[in-house]
Amino acid sequence: MSNISDTLENPSSGYEEKYSNPLGIKGIDHIEFIVDDRDDWRDFYVNRFGMYCRAYGDESTGLVGRRSYLIGQGRINFIIAEPYGDGPEAQVLRDHHEKHGNGVKDVAFLVKDCVHALEEAERRGATRIGDIDRHEHFIGGSIKAYGDTIHTFIQREDRAKVGFPGYVPTNEEKKDDDINFAMIDHVVANVEVMDEWVDFYERVFGFEPTRHFDINTGRSALMSKVMGSTDGYIKMPINEPSSGNSQIQEYLDEYNGPGVQHIALLTSDIVKTVTSMRAKGMEFLDIADAYYDKEFNRRMGTIDEDIEDLHANNILADRDDEHGYLLQIFTKCLYDRPTLFHEVIQRKGGAKGFGEGNFKALFESIEREQARRGTL
Ligand SMILES: [Fe+2]
Repeated sequence: MSNISDTLENPSSGYEEKYSNPLGIKGIDHIEFIVDDRDDWRDFYVNRFGMYCRAYGDESTGLVGRRSYLIGQGRINFIIAEPYGDGPEAQVLRDHHEKHGNGVKDVAFLVKDCVHALEEAERRGATRIGDIDRHEHFIGGSIKAYGDTIHTFIQREDRAKVGFPGYVPTNEEKKDDDINFAMIDHVVANVEVMDEWVDFYERVFGFEPTRHFDINTGRSALMSKVMGSTDGYIKMPINEPSSGNSQIQEYLDEYNGPGVQHIALLTSDIVKTVTSMRAKGMEFLDIADAYYDKEFNRRMGTIDEDIEDLHANNILADRDDEHGYLLQIFTKCLYDRPTLFHEVIQRKGGAKGFGEGNFKALFESIEREQARRGTL
């Protein structure tokens, strides 16, 4: 039995003041991963996600303790960093990797004014870490987030030039293929106590709680709240396990604490993108054939896509009450540890949801993977 409640909370009076972007955040700047091998993971995103390498950094370019690539497509920027050398900077990354395996260290935001963002975040109860990194066209500084994850605030003189100190641009360009991603749609955190982090993003960032889910598949359970910027561009769902065998608890055990569970990438053509990713060897979660039945047709009504194309690719669909519909699919976990995965999502007609109608099918699919690992 699945039980999903979705509450859209009504903004109360005093809303403008409460949720008014006090840190001056303009969007997600980049996400930084600490990995075992930068070449492997660059190749992974280039070969399976149609991304390309925008810049590189190492000893020869002035980076200390690491060798990194900046890869991406559209407005998506991933830094893939590997510890390098013997110094203390490399040790910090090695410790991160030792404890968590491959994973996300930094969800970095572009801000209007870095010093203001740091000071205001601190005043609102955040913990600053490290010094301000000042360069001619780039100012960065960080605060602590859930687990060992951080948020770096980055101020750039020219947003169009996504450069980093110690990185040298390549002259690579997007290859002409059918994989198209525009931006990061949402970044999901798994934590021990959801409300602690809901409060953090509300108090420090002025983000607004928009949706609340309570999911119980009958075998395991989780709770989730979505925190978002008022312009709707930043969406950060936060999950908490509500049963001991929950997939969220498995993540917390395997990752050794809270961290980023999945990063959803927005595409304007999911059928073309996923067909092409599959052809390049990307693996996605299987969905039971019964998902594409009469109930699917009843629920979705008329849609632009051919249901056979969705079925053949195991793409899920969900109608938003008033705002069109969304299409989505989830990759299998990327790493040795069952921690991070990606979602590919397409929103049509201004759909604002997260695939609530799919949670049962999705979590049952994740449970099948969990059962395979013997953790359910
Ligand atoms: Fe998602």
